[in-house]
Amino acid sequence: MNFDDFANNWDTERRTKRAKIIADEIAVTVNAKENSSAMEFGSGTGLISFNLKDNFSHITLIDISKFMIDNLDFKIENNKINNMVTRQIDIIENDIDEKFDVIYSSMALHHIKDTNEILGKFYKLLNSEGYLCIVDLDEEDGSFHKNDEDFDGHNGFNQEELKQMLINIGFRDVEAHTFFKDKKIIDGEEIEYSLFILKAEK
Ligand SMILES: C[S@@+](CC[C@H](N)C(=O)[O-])C[C@H]1O[C@@H](n2cnc3c(N)ncnc32)[C@H](O)[C@@H]1O
Repeated sequence: MNFDDFANNWDTERRTKRAKIIADEIAVTVNAKENSSAMEFGSGTGLISFNLKDNFSHITLIDISKFMIDNLDFKIENNKINNMVTRQIDIIENDIDEKFDVIYSSMALHHIKDTNEILGKFYKLLNSEGYLCIVDLDEEDGSFHKNDEDFDGHNGFNQEELKQMLINIGFRDVEAHTFFKDKKIIDGEEIEYSLFILKAEK
């Protein structure tokens, strides 16, 4: 799914409010030490990371969409943020020559076909004792993306299956729970969905 078409209208009031709730949940979940570095995968326009910029000494924001990154670069420059750096790359196709204390992501994992591959990549990109924190959709029936014709990702995740995948990769102290419930209106119909947060330590 190409997010370029959504970039200019991404920062709606609904998404901005939800991003604050998600960022607060990420902050209490990873409880980052002083001077920690972080990477956000699938940053979009940075709605999540703008709320977390004071929690980390440095944040690398990765997104495949040029227009999402263009919007984000504009916001970083406009707000004179000096600890956030963007990279417009496909995380699957590219090597990243940096390691991080924390990797977090919101609503991006379900867009990656090979979940095991990307979680393995996160493991390699983390410093030892680093944290992975994923916020994503709980398993659903496909309604969430029913109007996105080119969507070819996952209809959310089963928390237990995802936890086991992480344990098999080598992560420890893996925990997950649902923390957010909301409704999305599609074609006048209310679609209920919920989000989980998952934390795993390297
Ligand atoms: C649903 S949006 C979430 C954006 C942001 N995290 C938020 O919550 O507002 C998913 C983002 O993941 C990005 N993305 C999807 N596949 C990617 C990939 N292979 N590499 C890097 N970014 C990717 C998309 O471009 C998009 O901006």
